[in-house]
Amino acid sequence: MRSPKDVHVLLLYVLLLPLMVVSLDPPFSCDPSSPSTSSFTFCKTTLAVDKRVVDLISHLTLEEKIAQLGDIAPSIPRLGIPAYKWWSESLHGVSDSGRGIHFNGTIPSATSFPQVILTAASFNPRIWYQIGQAIGIEGRAIYNNGQAEGLTFWSPNINIFRDPRWGRGQETPGEDPMTTSKYAALYVRGLQGDSFEGGSSAELKASACCKHFTAYDMDNWDGITRYKFNAIVSAQDLEDTYQPPFKSCVEEGRASGIMCSYNRVNGVPTCADDNLLSKTARGSWGFYGYITSDCDAVSIIHDAQGYAKTAEDAVGDVLKAGMDVNCGGYVQKYAMSAVQQGKLSEGDINRALHNLFSIRMRLGLFNGNPKYEAYGKIAPSQVCTQKHQNLALEAAKDGIVLLKNSVDILPLSRSKVKSLGVIGPNANNATKLLGNYAGPPCKHITPLEALQSYVKDTRYLAGCATAACNSSSISEAVQLATSVDFVVMFMGLDLEQEREELDRVDLVLPGMQQSLITSVARAAKRPVILVLLCGGPVDITFAKYEKKIGGILWAGYPGEAGGLAIAQVLFGEHNPGGKLPVTWYPQSFTSVAMTDMRMRADPASGYPGRTYRFYTGKPVFEFGYGLSYSNYSYEFSAESENTIYMNKSVSLDAFKMSESFSYDIKKMGSEACKKLKFLTVVGVKNHGPMDGKHPVLLFLRWPDVLHGRPMKQLIGFQSVHLKAGEKADVKFVVSPCKHLSRTNVDGMKVLDQGSHFLMTGKKEYQISVMA
Ligand SMILES: *[C@@H]1O[C@H](CO)[C@@H](O)[C@H](O)[C@H]1NC(C)=O
Ligand SMILES: *[C@@H]1O[C@H](CO)[C@@H](O)[C@H](O)[C@H]1NC(C)=O
Ligand SMILES: *[C@@H]1O[C@H](CO)[C@@H](O)[C@H](O)[C@H]1NC(C)=O
Ligand SMILES: *[C@@H]1O[C@H](CO)[C@@H](O)[C@H](O)[C@H]1NC(C)=O
Ligand SMILES: *[C@@H]1O[C@H](CO)[C@@H](O)[C@H](O)[C@H]1NC(C)=O
Repeated sequence: MRSPKDVHVLLLYVLLLPLMVVSLDPPFSCDPSSPSTSSFTFCKTTLAVDKRVVDLISHLTLEEKIAQLGDIAPSIPRLGIPAYKWWSESLHGVSDSGRGIHFNGTIPSATSFPQVILTAASFNPRIWYQIGQAIGIEGRAIYNNGQAEGLTFWSPNINIFRDPRWGRGQETPGEDPMTTSKYAALYVRGLQGDSFEGGSSAELKASACCKHFTAYDMDNWDGITRYKFNAIVSAQDLEDTYQPPFKSCVEEGRASGIMCSYNRVNGVPTCADDNLLSKTARGSWGFYGYITSDCDAVSIIHDAQGYAKTAEDAVGDVLKAGMDVNCGGYVQKYAMSAVQQGKLSEGDINRALHNLFSIRMRLGLFNGNPKYEAYGKIAPSQVCTQKHQNLALEAAKDGIVLLKNSVDILPLSRSKVKSLGVIGPNANNATKLLGNYAGPPCKHITPLEALQSYVKDTRYLAGCATAACNSSSISEAVQLATSVDFVVMFMGLDLEQEREELDRVDLVLPGMQQSLITSVARAAKRPVILVLLCGGPVDITFAKYEKKIGGILWAGYPGEAGGLAIAQVLFGEHNPGGKLPVTWYPQSFTSVAMTDMRMRADPASGYPGRTYRFYTGKPVFEFGYGLSYSNYSYEFSAESENTIYMNKSVSLDAFKMSESFSYDIKKMGSEACKKLKFLTVVGVKNHGPMDGKHPVLLFLRWPDVLHGRPMKQLIGFQSVHLKAGEKADVKFVVSPCKHLSRTNVDGMKVLDQGSHFLMTGKKEYQISVMA
């Protein structure tokens, strides 16, 4: 039995505990209250970061230096430097799936935005930027609250979603290099803060990391894993598919981090590729951040790939190539023996440390207690704000794609739906809305719960336990379907079907899902509505043509507000405008080897090509597809320019005649390119009956597809809000060097003379490039 005194003590403890947690300081260096360490030159905030870092490194012993080369970097007490954890994740919200973030203090959760593939489907750049901003703020708040040991987030994932089976495709903005490039830059700018123009001393709110560099988009296929995979990539595909997002992430986004991938590219492990890390990223693109390996990606260079003969060779290879920190302990373990064997110099280590400590300084972690600085003042109350939760809802609503609405079954009207049947394994589990790399969300609400607030008489049956749907209670489902006015089915995939290290084998819905859906549809009083939760595309040809399936929505993994978003779309409180960011292939595509990196089709061998740019087969739904409750029409305005005279600015030596009459963009130079800009105006009309946000996608096609020209290529997009009946002009600035050019077989960018066609919807507009 407890004495009253004990209760008293316990009460005091309970009362004090939250206060004690709140008062936690974040880790930082150069504490002015310790004069012995704060007087070091590297603590002088008036000096440039470069100078401070050089001073810091000069104080370190070789052992201390080597200890800093792993993602868990120990403290250096004699210099007042705390431990640092490089690995944190924030793909679609601050997450604890890395090592640096802990939700065990007064902040128990963070805003969980939709999985990236759905956010991309909004084709709304403003939302992408705002999500980055919100994540940066929440990450900072968590750090300031003493619940983080790092501020380096290993997001975004900007590999091209090249194969529909890829388990991590959900993490990416889809299959289009231009969309992915834009997403990358905006997410990074939002997350890092707006001081990105300040060069190598620019302050960072948080640090973003573009991954996985490069040509990594396959986890496990037919016994071949990402750890051993050697991606064979042509110069043409590298230049116009795999590299653009990384180039943009660095050049436009000013990303402070890059992660080199597990796979090899044309035989060379990316983390050991000097040409990729130093010559291309740092040299050509002007990257000045840090480069981390993926986790254990250094050890595999020796252990799994046999590329390096010894552990020391692997460590020497990566540090000489330009990698700075190893996720894992391999470099920490073998760097000393590598130095002793002459495979690594202290200079190589100093180079890496320079990049690493620069980031920590730019994050403001060497300026004394950060609570006296702008970013240090971001409070715990900035996490899970109403504003951020509204943004999560907006992103989910804007991303959701209406795939079918055959008998105008949607939107549902509250007054007509007296009873609602909700069926499916994805209907009533809030975790299934999040997708991978999620942290604990601010709120949980399932689609079923959201729908219950619209229709009192809502009856629910899972139908199958999970998306695997190995067994199904079809007869109960049929019974439920016959007893209600309307039926909504929540089907699709979950993380047991697609995730990191788990690529799919099939594209059709798993297990007995199709039987369940078809049986329910045929029994129901009215055509049913199918809501698909999945990241990767599924072949639902059966549902596309089944008359008793009236409406189909794709909702990706819509995040913490996804249940509400789906309900609002179903009941017409939001007019869907999302567009598919990836081609939905038929099941027959699974005969293509996932390891075949070629983008272009090869008719001679029956290889169909990949993505909307090159796939020659008939997709189930094409890239950019998405219906609305309104009809929209497009018209190219007559004021658009239609002839580009190259004689305005281009000297003749940029002209080459090998393949066709075309100009070498590099030889033209950026000044000449700037002069060629022109304006294209597209009139867009919402014919009603509902107001709506509508992304306008502008594509380019060439007169032919010779020499690997894409069939079409997205060159611009904008999201416009139009009231029912309203018309607006959408203006695109077209820069021929950037938007009308193509990559030739040697990987060179060229601009063809002659006709080009701009396209939006079914409308085309001809442009001529003249000498
Ligand atoms: C939170 O978790 C981290 C990592 O496990 C640990 O170091 C820290 O002490 C924990 N904090 C609290 C308040 O429990
Ligand atoms: C919800 O889904 C998660 C993730 O798949 C799973 O771990 C959990 O058991 C599910 N919860 C219920 C109640 O089925
Ligand atoms: C469903 O069946 C598949 C194939 O037989 C099996 O691999 C999987 O483990 C099963 N899943 C569940 C949840 O029972
Ligand atoms: C939209 O256009 C289609 C085809 O022209 C037509 O069948 C449909 O009724 C129109 N819908 C609205 C809402 O105007
Ligand atoms: C460029 O060519 C066009 C068409 O031949 C001609 O009208 C124009 O004057 C030329 N411009 C210059 C700067 O030579």
